[in-house]
Amino acid sequence: MDKPEIVLGVSGGIAAYKACELLRRMTESGHSVRVVPTGSALHFVGQATWAALSGNPVATGVWDEVHQVPHVRIGQRADLVVVAPATADLLAKAAHGLADDLLTNTLLTARCPVVFAPAMHTEMWEHPATQENVATLRRRGAVVVEPAVGRLTGADTGKGRLPDPAAIWEVCRRVLARGVRAPDLAGRHVVVSAGGTREPLDPVRFLGNRSSGRQGYALAGVAAARGARVTLVAAHTELPDPAGVDLVRVGTAVQLREAVLKAAADADAVVMAAAVADFRPARYADGKIKKQDGRDPEPVALVRNPDILAELSADRPRPGQLVVGFAAETDDVLANGRAKLARKGCDLLVVNEVGENRTFGAETNEAVVLGADGSETPVPLGPKETLAETVWDLVAGRWTDGG
Ligand code: CTP
Repeated sequence: MDKPEIVLGVSGGIAAYKACELLRRMTESGHSVRVVPTGSALHFVGQATWAALSGNPVATGVWDEVHQVPHVRIGQRADLVVVAPATADLLAKAAHGLADDLLTNTLLTARCPVVFAPAMHTEMWEHPATQENVATLRRRGAVVVEPAVGRLTGADTGKGRLPDPAAIWEVCRRVLARGVRAPDLAGRHVVVSAGGTREPLDPVRFLGNRSSGRQGYALAGVAAARGARVTLVAAHTELPDPAGVDLVRVGTAVQLREAVLKAAADADAVVMAAAVADFRPARYADGKIKKQDGRDPEPVALVRNPDILAELSADRPRPGQLVVGFAAETDDVLANGRAKLARKGCDLLVVNEVGENRTFGAETNEAVVLGADGSETPVPLGPKETLAETVWDLVAGRWTDGG
């Protein structure tokens, strides 16, 4: 089978240079890429660069090379259209169906998945006009990648940076893998927690756990590729920042609870994939705890952390919100899973069998997803993305059944 054809739209922002790296990743993966810059994008990176890197002709207007480039065909033939960077102006045009150049025409004729990677100043991103345009595009099924936070063009910093090309490509790869299936999470806001909490004992020590964050990151990435607006609340993990999600970093269970509850206020679903410490040291020593010659160390007293999953399940911040938990069990996996599902009160519980070298940190996962309705969905050993797809299938299925 031929590799899917990609249209890379580039609008006029300084981040246009990063699209060269994105284009390189696409062509190195064997895709044929047609670059469609806007006229203003050419102020930043010239036509010759796009043509040389893509190996394809490059046009900006519908009147360029009319005999060779029938403009409607570009959108019709595409398997994926990606606009990176997408300026506030381009998003506005796309949301309103304007078509005054080749890129906006392509967006109207395309019937394939569309990914926008916005980049602009924080004020422009936060402006209600832009936010409403983004919401419109998402509602119609486009994947709009959340901009990254960091240094902007000048000395200022804030939200609005184009995410790393590698991270944008990761989103595109997931969208391509879904093929023509509709982005069934479009218009939904989902919250995913990931990673392992760290409970400090003193300024240099903490109680932690082995969670790598991979399963939570896979859940967040897959949800974004299926069209959801995603808030990822990440405790400790060494994974690179994913593109396409709103990332909130936390350290302790108490901080994770605060961030999850805040994001859950308007969420359609919350998935608690984080490994949350059940206990934390009762006291935090402001200075490093020193050993005392000839004396045994003081025992470390622990206190319970709040159970976020149970709290969310009992007191849903939004009616009809779905809550998904994870259970890591070493013995009597199914029986313990059922008991935990009942105790926590969530809608779905993903039960993993864990051990020294199983699940934590691994690239693969094997699980069974238990439903409060008595359902049992086994997920055979496979990539964590497969389990993530199953979890979202089950969530989306409940929305379809229950509205
Ligand atoms: N969890 C939570 N808050 C906690 C502890 C856990 O929200 N303080 C969530 C985890 O994110 C996970 C689920 O609860 O989704 C299961 O966590 P687990 O540690 O397996 O369950 P426990 O209740 O700690 O059960 P036990 O220690 O009895 O195995």
